[in-house]
Amino acid sequence: MSLNEAKKIAAYKAVDEWVQNDTAIGVGSGSTVVFAVERLAQRVSQENLRVVCVPTSFQARQLIVENNLQLGDLDRNPHLDCAIDGADEVDANMTLIKGGGGCLLQEKIVAACADKMIVIADYTKDSSKLGEQYKKGIPIEVVPMAYVPLRSRIQTRFGGKLKLRMAVAKAGPCVTDNGNFILDWDFDQQKEYDWDAVNRELIQMPGVVETGLFVNMARKAYFGMADGTVKERS
Ligand code: A5P
Repeated sequence: MSLNEAKKIAAYKAVDEWVQNDTAIGVGSGSTVVFAVERLAQRVSQENLRVVCVPTSFQARQLIVENNLQLGDLDRNPHLDCAIDGADEVDANMTLIKGGGGCLLQEKIVAACADKMIVIADYTKDSSKLGEQYKKGIPIEVVPMAYVPLRSRIQTRFGGKLKLRMAVAKAGPCVTDNGNFILDWDFDQQKEYDWDAVNRELIQMPGVVETGLFVNMARKAYFGMADGTVKERS
């Protein structure tokens, strides 16, 4: 089974099990969410569901619009039934690394407004310990003027190395949907980190907007496996 097929079976299962009529849901970002939106659009038209979709990024907004789903926002829907999103890595404790696609801030805001966050992923995201699978580090969204001092401060405090994420199709840094920069923290794999404590401390550093560490947020994860089955973790 290809990676895309694995993403698809996880996404379809999550949408079938969690999306209910007359609800507002959060729509995550990334390549796996594309399949969730596809399945949601099928269910909305076949079952005549009323579902308001709150996006977590520009990409998610486009997906909602292109699939003729009802676009919402947190002003009108501050309470969401569930948020369905991908992840770059999910460890045994359901701690996530997110933000590989640069959308971590809105993803965390939306997930925090939802009764439950449901993660959809292919088998390459399934790990026992953070860093085992995703090798690009933990994304940290920062205010542009603070990226140099934050880079050294985080390095000195927690070890590892931080790199300013660069844009792919333009010269210069990657700028998030919120006008910020991203530092990718290649943390020290030999160290044992308390991710909840690390996340709290990072967020308190002036200039840090949000981290891609999602601790105690995900209720359930679905992994599409190479053999065509869907593995679940909660
Ligand atoms: C976006 O910034 C990320 O948090 C994505 O949700 C995450 O990277 C998963 O993306 P894929 O589904 O493309 O792997």
